[in-house]
Amino acid sequence: MKLIEAKDYKEMSKIAADIMIKKVADNPAITLGLATGGTPLGIYSSLIDDHKENGTSYNGVTSFNLDEYAGLSGKDPNSYRSYMNENFFHHIDIQKENTFVPCGDAEDLQKACADYEALIKAHKGIDLQILGIGENGHIGFNEPGTSFDSETHVVQLTDSTRQANARYFSSLEAVPQAAVTMGIASIMKSKEILLLVSGKQKSEALKQLLNSSPDESFPASVLNKHPYVTILADKAAIAGLIVNS
Ligand code: GLP
Repeated sequence: MKLIEAKDYKEMSKIAADIMIKKVADNPAITLGLATGGTPLGIYSSLIDDHKENGTSYNGVTSFNLDEYAGLSGKDPNSYRSYMNENFFHHIDIQKENTFVPCGDAEDLQKACADYEALIKAHKGIDLQILGIGENGHIGFNEPGTSFDSETHVVQLTDSTRQANARYFSSLEAVPQAAVTMGIASIMKSKEILLLVSGKQKSEALKQLLNSSPDESFPASVLNKHPYVTILADKAAIAGLIVNS
């Protein structure tokens, strides 16, 4: 794993965006794996600025998002589909039909999961996957204990994840109890992974990631087994690492 240090969140986002812009320029038909949460917001904003200023085109790009809350339709303002539309897709020239987010309100969620996995395979997999990390080491919504063999599946969210995400909802009670997420095996099939870690609240997770061997109790540790992972971390995330180690 390669670790790149950025001075702050802004610089981290800019470095990540520049990496993505270059990948899109090199392969205009790239398949991107995209993430939600607070961390990638700066990347999307940089990519939108670049699209407007330099004309980088996403016309031939396909995207697959990592996860979606169970029970929320794509029209729900708290859904990850809405998040992606508002924060990225509506501001670039990507074809909406080429943007995929798991369906959180399918009648048959298990079938929706299998269909999503099949769709990723039909697109010959993800070329570049963007990842954030949860304080408990989750990637996507793969909570501690998730099998490294898992493909897209339904997951019960832990209390800590629901609390961390409650800031986006009217109350903790409003945060869904479950989600649909690409599995660990789905993520590991990506050809290349870019993991973003920002803020001192993530430094313990970063430390554990860098110091642990792959173990299902800490989902992100699986990344140690992937041949092409770049971690982009800001000083706040790295500072805790140095002080505590
Ligand atoms: C959420 C998302 C993850 C995200 C993580 C960190 O629960 N499902 O994909 O990476 O938690 O979120 P944030 O970037 O807001 O800290």
